[in-house]
Amino acid sequence: MDLYIDTANLDEIKQANDLGVLDGVTTNPSLIAKEKTDYAKRLAEICKIVPGPVSAEVIALDYEGMMKEGHAHAKIADNIVVKLPCTVDGLRACKAFSDEGIKTNLTLCFQPLQALMVAKAGAYLVSPFIGRVDDIAEDGMDLILKIRQIYDNYGYETKLLAASIRHTKHLVECALAGADVATVPFNVIQQMLKHPLTDQGLEKFVADYKKAFG
Ligand code: E4P
Repeated sequence: MDLYIDTANLDEIKQANDLGVLDGVTTNPSLIAKEKTDYAKRLAEICKIVPGPVSAEVIALDYEGMMKEGHAHAKIADNIVVKLPCTVDGLRACKAFSDEGIKTNLTLCFQPLQALMVAKAGAYLVSPFIGRVDDIAEDGMDLILKIRQIYDNYGYETKLLAASIRHTKHLVECALAGADVATVPFNVIQQMLKHPLTDQGLEKFVADYKKAFG
């Protein structure tokens, strides 16, 4: 499973990238707004740190606006993936960008048929939002399982990117369900190597070594 970080914070991106296992970055307008910096400048900065796919979302809601913004984003760096919403206009823009050879990430996916449609339009990534589905007392993981099944039934090549991940249990379940990618907030990435028994075990190894060998 590929691991992306879901942030526009450069410090977090650098720290995650230093782990040596980071495959890409997802951003969205809210995440970039939080950084209080220029939108395009921040995308360029991220692309310089991480060579893998960096999702850059459009703000426009209409097809023409999406095409204009998407083309501008795509010029920022070779690893930009244009992020579009799972709407009628987003689907049209997805097809047009795919035909041009520009990669897309179709975001705000909340039901399996959105994922089916964007795969038909050649999306590179689809982003079902697990956490936000859980937030409304439904089952985010069920969405992942359904999309996996549909993509496997027909051999769609769109990568299933599990988004809106809130905790490590989501991540374990995504890996078991066969998500191709998980995009993860920095605080959850930090938890991925943690276990109290690892810490206790190490403490004992070091203590025993010191007792025996000084
Ligand atoms: C995905 O690309 C989105 O940026 C993100 O995962 C949304 O997560 P949230 O629901 O925690 O805002």
